[in-house]
Amino acid sequence: MSKTHHQRLLIIDFGSQVTQLIARRLRELDVYCEIHPYQTVDDAFLTRFAPQAVVLSGGPASVLDEGSPRAPDAVFELGVPVLGICYGQQVMMQQLGGAVERGDGTAEFGRAYVTPADRALPLLEGWFSEGREQVWMSHGDHVKTLAPGFEVFGTSPGAPFAITADPARRFYAVQFHPEVHHTPGGRQIYANFLALAGFTGDWTMGAYRDEAIAKIRETVGDAKVICGLSGGVDSSVAAVLIHEAIGDQLTCVFVDHGLLREGEATEVVGMFRDNYNIPLIHADESDRFLSALDGVSDPEQKRKTIGRLFIDVFQHHAGDVGGAKFLAQGTLYPDVIESVSFSGGPSVTIKSHHNVGGLPEKMGLKLVEPLRELFKDEVRELGRELGLPASFIGRHPFPGPGLAIRCPGEITPEKLAILRRADAVYLDQIRQHGLYDDIWQAFVAILPVRTVGVMGDARTYDYACALRAVTSVDGMTADYYPFSHAFLGETATRIINEVPGINRVTYDITSKPPGTIEWE
Ligand code: XMP
Repeated sequence: MSKTHHQRLLIIDFGSQVTQLIARRLRELDVYCEIHPYQTVDDAFLTRFAPQAVVLSGGPASVLDEGSPRAPDAVFELGVPVLGICYGQQVMMQQLGGAVERGDGTAEFGRAYVTPADRALPLLEGWFSEGREQVWMSHGDHVKTLAPGFEVFGTSPGAPFAITADPARRFYAVQFHPEVHHTPGGRQIYANFLALAGFTGDWTMGAYRDEAIAKIRETVGDAKVICGLSGGVDSSVAAVLIHEAIGDQLTCVFVDHGLLREGEATEVVGMFRDNYNIPLIHADESDRFLSALDGVSDPEQKRKTIGRLFIDVFQHHAGDVGGAKFLAQGTLYPDVIESVSFSGGPSVTIKSHHNVGGLPEKMGLKLVEPLRELFKDEVRELGRELGLPASFIGRHPFPGPGLAIRCPGEITPEKLAILRRADAVYLDQIRQHGLYDDIWQAFVAILPVRTVGVMGDARTYDYACALRAVTSVDGMTADYYPFSHAFLGETATRIINEVPGINRVTYDITSKPPGTIEWE
């Protein structure tokens, strides 16, 4: 649990796929909230957390099943407003004396329409101006009997109790999901709920920045801090924030593993040296990484080799700083949230992500993670607040293992050079067509095949490459970007004309799942 002076709201997670979206909606309304799994919320926790309101999330279980998740009864005795969503509504009804039944043939999944009852409810301020509201449902069970004190305020074909409330106790419970995009009036419901709970919207990035700076100073004292800089948004924002707090007690280490894009090292190092004057070690270790990767074609072996070397190299250069006691990391809130797992088993490793995990123990360092409470778009907002250039804040994500995972098969300096050129031309095309900000991530992968072509009456036998561009919210799922055929044609022509070594261009139209964004 984080120490914050802000008004705070508690989200009790019953394992819905969209619980994080509840937090997003509330944060957008300038309210500080935290998500905690239902198993970890007990009376002592509630007393410590002292929420000003509670939201009970949806979840995959059925309250009719033996041993199904419950909210601690104390939630309903705090005297604060409670909003139950989907499973949260059902759990609330059952615990407060109502009943739930299985929906025989009345399950609703997807879009539904709610019509109002003929009595007003402040939670619904601004709703039903056109008679009905579109909502997004996803439920099998539904409420059968209301708990004492509750009344119905809205109905849908599959959920006679779509909106229910006990206004005197400020308990609200809805069957649909107000947090998703497909409930267009959902934001209004949250805004009304927050107003009913007396939130004033005191969670702003300006306030966060000042508090974070004070907290960093208090934690670090006069000790030295090192920060691994990747050029990505998270580590950059963390570095600038910490530098603002403790100045030259911070040293950044930028490890160039020889797998960066064209001009990347110069851009990142320049940005930090020119704009911020942050002490920065630029460690050019490309030879070391590329020789360790020589002959390696297995994706996991590539990732592990890079991860291991990165730690060695970072540790070596961090030693130059002398006596650092803290390691700064750009860890974000989604990495911290303990998600509720109903399957219980460990999940399969799809890819071993490269990060600096393992370093703190090895080097006896403590962690400073000033972004632990933030979502990605909040980090971008904080970056703007700190004056980072817009071009930097809007950069597409770039993976730690860099071009190694965009070069299936063996990595050679020749292939990397071709890949860098092709990638630069592709991104230039995207920028020139004004598409960069619409795309979540775009890059080229060089394929381990040579194919035959004909250029100027001569035969060519060169590499093929694949263009990748996806839309996504968080990288967990993604769809390919629908470029026009004209754009694709023009880009293919440019790459083949401008990049010696490539004579064939393909466009990857795989979504995630079943594909992944990177090729390895
Ligand atoms: P995948 O390929 O798993 O990628 O669909 C999802 C997102 O994560 C990025 N990615 C990484 N980022 N270290 C990182 O910092 C890694 O090892 C790594 N592998 C993938 C990828 O670029 C995409 O944005």
